[in-house]
Amino acid sequence: MWMLLSIFFAFLLWVIWKYWAVIIGAGYDPTPMGTVRRMLELAGVGENDVVYDLGCGDGRIVLTAAREFGARAVGIEADPVRFLIAYLRILFSDKRDRMTIKFGNFMNVPLGDATCITLFLFRRGNEMLTPKFEKELAPGTRIVSFVWRIQSWRPVKMDALQEIYLYVVPKPE
Ligand SMILES: C[S@@+](CC[C@H](N)C(=O)[O-])C[C@H]1O[C@@H](n2cnc3c(N)ncnc32)[C@H](O)[C@@H]1O
Repeated sequence: MWMLLSIFFAFLLWVIWKYWAVIIGAGYDPTPMGTVRRMLELAGVGENDVVYDLGCGDGRIVLTAAREFGARAVGIEADPVRFLIAYLRILFSDKRDRMTIKFGNFMNVPLGDATCITLFLFRRGNEMLTPKFEKELAPGTRIVSFVWRIQSWRPVKMDALQEIYLYVVPKPE
């Protein structure tokens, strides 16, 4: 009986862990490294940038932005296991003074100091974030999204082959 209950609760925990992130934005699926570099190139990321990866997974975009593009980079992750992996990867990396990993829901994190945002979320994640972007981001901030478009915005550049879309927050009229 106890054995069956333990298996049931372990399964329940696994289901919650697996699907919770889907409900609040997107499940885990890492961006291929070639695409990470292309996203940062397309956005023209450099050493004066502050790059936020919303839902940073294992931290690969944060690490690449800081180590290969010289930017300051911030990752936000709500899944405790991925957060820990990203945190440890950054802790043992060079340039760690240019990287930060925050645990929590990106909807609750102010984004005002970002100059570039990277996304690989589902359509719903992008839809949830659009009003936050319109409210918090400074004109000129770039948003680069892999696979999923921002439905109500028009991309200024895209890489159709790699499914990357670049947006720039417009100046207010
Ligand atoms: C498709 S993965 C992309 C991971 C990483 N950005 C990459 O490109 O390799 C999406 C990530 O977003 C995280 N996530 C989803 N919704 C979130 C939210 N509301 N706040 C913080 N992280 C979230 C998930 O846990 C998952 O790790």
